[in-house]
Amino acid sequence: MERYRSVFENNRRWVEEKRRAQPDFFEQLAVGQAPEFLYIGCSDSRVPANEVMGLAPGELFVHRNVANLVVNTDLNAHSVLEYAVTHLQVDYVIVCGHYGCGGVQAAMQSKDLGILNGWLREVRDIYRLHQTELDAIQDETARYRRLVELNVQEQCVHVLKTACVQKEILRRGKPSVHGWVFDLGEGLLRDLDIPFDDILKDVREIYHLDIDSETTSNGV
Ligand code: CO
Repeated sequence: MERYRSVFENNRRWVEEKRRAQPDFFEQLAVGQAPEFLYIGCSDSRVPANEVMGLAPGELFVHRNVANLVVNTDLNAHSVLEYAVTHLQVDYVIVCGHYGCGGVQAAMQSKDLGILNGWLREVRDIYRLHQTELDAIQDETARYRRLVELNVQEQCVHVLKTACVQKEILRRGKPSVHGWVFDLGEGLLRDLDIPFDDILKDVREIYHLDIDSETTSNGV
């Protein structure tokens, strides 16, 4: 209980610090948000998005789940994406994975994980999609790290498949989509510089939604 109560003490200190640095900090925060970034990351407690990116409250719209997935039927993730891209008009959509991801690691093991089976099967499907490359990596840690990267890449592709992202790119040339990996052991963010044009070259027609720039946000 002591530990529980200390959080409120921390919060009061945080408010004081913020007010000292900027007296109207919370009044400004209450006015509204105009974040430039949407961050889709893992729920892992060791990857605090705002902190590692050096961004203040109001500067980052965030969605987190186990293994940073953008599953087609996930109403939660797609509501966040739609809201961020269409209404908040973010300029950048980032999918950020991390080495040492328990979700990705679990997906690499032959184990029954209960309700997580269905969720992590998304990662197993990515393994299957890239099996030739992954199975050629002898070192288990290196293979695991590569799956973390490929998972990020495929989630970015999922983002690019959506109508809301395709519409906004057509309308205003944004958002751009980026895949990152956070290295827990170093604290550094790494841009994977994913070449989406090359990746989507052969499959673009399959996912192209034939959206014209006049289409309203409801007229998919
Ligand atoms: Co993780």
